[in-house]
Amino acid sequence: MTEYIKNASKKFEELLERQLKRVEMINASKDYIDYAGLDKIIIGVAGGDGIGPVITNESARVLKYLLDDEVKAGRVEFKDIEGLTIENRVKHNKAIPDDVLDEIKKCHVILKGPTTTPRAGDEWPNIESANVAMRKELDLFANVRPVKVTEKGIDWTFFRENTEGSYTLGSEGINVTDDLAIDFTVTTTEGTRRIAKMAYDYARKNHKDHVSIITKANVVKTTDGKFLRICQEIAKDYPEIRTTDWYIDITTAKLIDEKRRTDFKVFILPNLYGDIITDEAAEFQGGVGTAGSANLGKRYAMFEAIHGSAPRMVKEGRDKYADPCSMLRASVLLLSHIGYQKQADLLERALDICMFEEKKISITGRDTGCTCSEFGDYVMDTAMKLAAK
Ligand code: IPM
Ligand code: MG
Repeated sequence: MTEYIKNASKKFEELLERQLKRVEMINASKDYIDYAGLDKIIIGVAGGDGIGPVITNESARVLKYLLDDEVKAGRVEFKDIEGLTIENRVKHNKAIPDDVLDEIKKCHVILKGPTTTPRAGDEWPNIESANVAMRKELDLFANVRPVKVTEKGIDWTFFRENTEGSYTLGSEGINVTDDLAIDFTVTTTEGTRRIAKMAYDYARKNHKDHVSIITKANVVKTTDGKFLRICQEIAKDYPEIRTTDWYIDITTAKLIDEKRRTDFKVFILPNLYGDIITDEAAEFQGGVGTAGSANLGKRYAMFEAIHGSAPRMVKEGRDKYADPCSMLRASVLLLSHIGYQKQADLLERALDICMFEEKKISITGRDTGCTCSEFGDYVMDTAMKLAAK
């Protein structure tokens, strides 16, 4: 055996050992946390970097307004989490520095701003994405992304598997020689069962009669094949729901087919396909800036925008004009997740009015439109009027 193969095999062995440990951990993970049973729910607010702090603080301001009674009664507490900036992550050479992770783990749910994801060749060392690391560290296995365009009949909910697929070892591929690089894709039985169950439970509870499983199982036979097979097994427990399976390539096409796309309701997808297709889907709704996402696990949950940190806006001094709508949509998901459905509905309705109906002021990303905090005021004002009705 050449030295190259020996070295690569050694690394591969280590990866397998760690993944088998992860499988044990997933298999042993117990029931979902019951927020109603907690004395106090702690909401961590981590601004991230780029436009992150501006849009996250604005959303936290709106959340604090909506949860004012709960905060006063001591049932909800907001906690600022510093240190998720690219500068601090680079300083510690870690996707999430240990002390920041400790603070995060003291919370129940996190509102997280976008964080810069380095890649080879840019101004930062190529450390792992903070998003990806947080999803793994907190075992946030479900990335739930709703997309709705009522007048076009679009009402989709994506259940993107969030800790496996090509992301699990995304920073740990092996350069076997200068000429050969290998990455890995991971599918586990329980990792797939739990995302599939969550999607079908959601469909059942919300009277959605169609679930679509998206893979490329005809080509990526082992991991996507397993993902598809397990989802289909879970589907048997939900006979009232129609299950269809699609390949990712034709799915991207069907989402722009106006006659067919309204038939889709709930999607289950491996990580990378979910990443790609939720950007496409959000575009119908007005772009990634309008879409929020929930990262759910059994113990923790994190809510974020689906877009990046837009460092250029900061460089050009335009961060105060950043659009908080994605983080506000994420806040709707957060409220609903921790059991404040009335406040979630109120915020969602206020956002629809401010973004699509009344549009008294609008965000353009520069001084031709309103600022982030003016928009926040507008949303709170609208929510207040709705609540008074
Ligand atoms: C997303 C983002 C992240 C991902 C990036 C920033 C690592 O695109 O949340 O969709 O790829 O998951
Ligand atoms: Mg993405």
